[in-house]
Amino acid sequence: MKSAMVAAVVLALLLYGTGNANCATLRPTSRNSTDDMLSLVDFRKEISSDPRGFLTSWNTNNSSAADYCSWNGVTCSRTHPGRVTELNLSSQSLRGRISPSLGNLTFLRILDLSYNSFFGQLPLLSRLVRLQDLVLNNNQLQSFPIDALTNCSSLHTIALSSNMFTGPIPASIGSLPNLTYLYLDGNLLSGGIPSSLLNISKLKELDLSSNMLDGPIPPNMFPHEPYTSPPWF
Ligand SMILES: *[C@@H]1O[C@H](CO)[C@@H](O)[C@H](O)[C@H]1NC(C)=O
Ligand SMILES: *[C@@H]1O[C@H](CO)[C@@H](O)[C@H](O)[C@H]1NC(C)=O
Ligand SMILES: *[C@@H]1O[C@H](CO)[C@@H](O)[C@H](O)[C@H]1NC(C)=O
Ligand SMILES: *[C@@H]1O[C@H](CO)[C@@H](O)[C@H](O)[C@H]1NC(C)=O
Ligand SMILES: *[C@@H]1O[C@H](CO)[C@@H](O)[C@H](O)[C@H]1NC(C)=O
Ligand SMILES: *[C@@H]1O[C@H](CO)[C@@H](O)[C@H](O)[C@H]1NC(C)=O
Ligand SMILES: *[C@@H]1O[C@H](CO)[C@@H](O)[C@H](O)[C@H]1NC(C)=O
Ligand SMILES: *[C@@H]1O[C@H](CO)[C@@H](O)[C@H](O)[C@H]1NC(C)=O
Repeated sequence: MKSAMVAAVVLALLLYGTGNANCATLRPTSRNSTDDMLSLVDFRKEISSDPRGFLTSWNTNNSSAADYCSWNGVTCSRTHPGRVTELNLSSQSLRGRISPSLGNLTFLRILDLSYNSFFGQLPLLSRLVRLQDLVLNNNQLQSFPIDALTNCSSLHTIALSSNMFTGPIPASIGSLPNLTYLYLDGNLLSGGIPSSLLNISKLKELDLSSNMLDGPIPPNMFPHEPYTSPPWF
């Protein structure tokens, strides 16, 4: 097969139909707020550089366990006290790995670590069934486990642009029923475009540009709209 770099694919798809919503629902196992604090403390341990001192408030030596809800970048649930719903550390010049302990923050809805220097592997997030926005663009992340986002059926936005992700696009992304924005541009992804991406009925924007993808663009990639040249042509 003649290999051709897919220079850019930006789609604005208006899809109707119900699509495939065959996703398993998971009940988080019973866990309590102390566990969320321990997950944050473990996450903090993997961050080796915090030049602005953004995480200085993240210490447990002089505060009660509940105080972690007021740590910088942390938001907790109103209805489930002590459960972390949002972790937003965007643009804080942080450097480190992303601890697998994040995969235990089962009430998380928003995870935004964009514009930092996180590297290494994206941990398994498959228990985060409430996660809506995964925003990790502009870091130096290199890989994700193939199951990383399996069962994250609430996902609405995945922004992994401008990292160093290698390997194929996980086909399991195609089974996220509510996925609306998918940005994977500016990585080192290889292989073909999984045809399962066509099954995401709510997808409005898809950017796969600036990778090392090859193979054909799946047929029916533009099923409901006449093809129009992308703006850069
Ligand atoms: C929370 O979990 C910890 C450790 O698992 C346990 O010691 C503690 O009693 C639990 N607290 C509540 C309120 O359930
Ligand atoms: C406790 O830690 C906070 C930062 O989270 C700091 O501002 C405060 O001064 C500390 N209090 C004491 C008594 O050390
Ligand atoms: C809390 O512990 C951290 C190290 O874990 C230390 O850097 C910090 O100064 C301590 N803060 C207080 C208020 O004792
Ligand atoms: C994270 O915080 C930044 C700065 O406050 C904000 O601009 C951004 O929208 C937040 N991210 C998400 C996903 O809400
Ligand atoms: C997640 O929580 C479970 C049980 O509460 C614990 O055994 C496990 O070590 C935690 N995983 C991580 C990566 O923190
Ligand atoms: C996804 O959910 C199914 C059904 O609960 C479970 O069997 C499977 O292990 C989960 N997958 C991952 C990667 O956690
Ligand atoms: C998908 O989105 C709809 C509408 O916003 C919402 O009602 C539904 O609960 C979402 N499904 C999942 C699995 O998050
Ligand atoms: C798309 O969804 C249909 C219906 O659920 C399923 O039969 C088919 O295998 C899916 N195709 C891909 C490529 O995932």
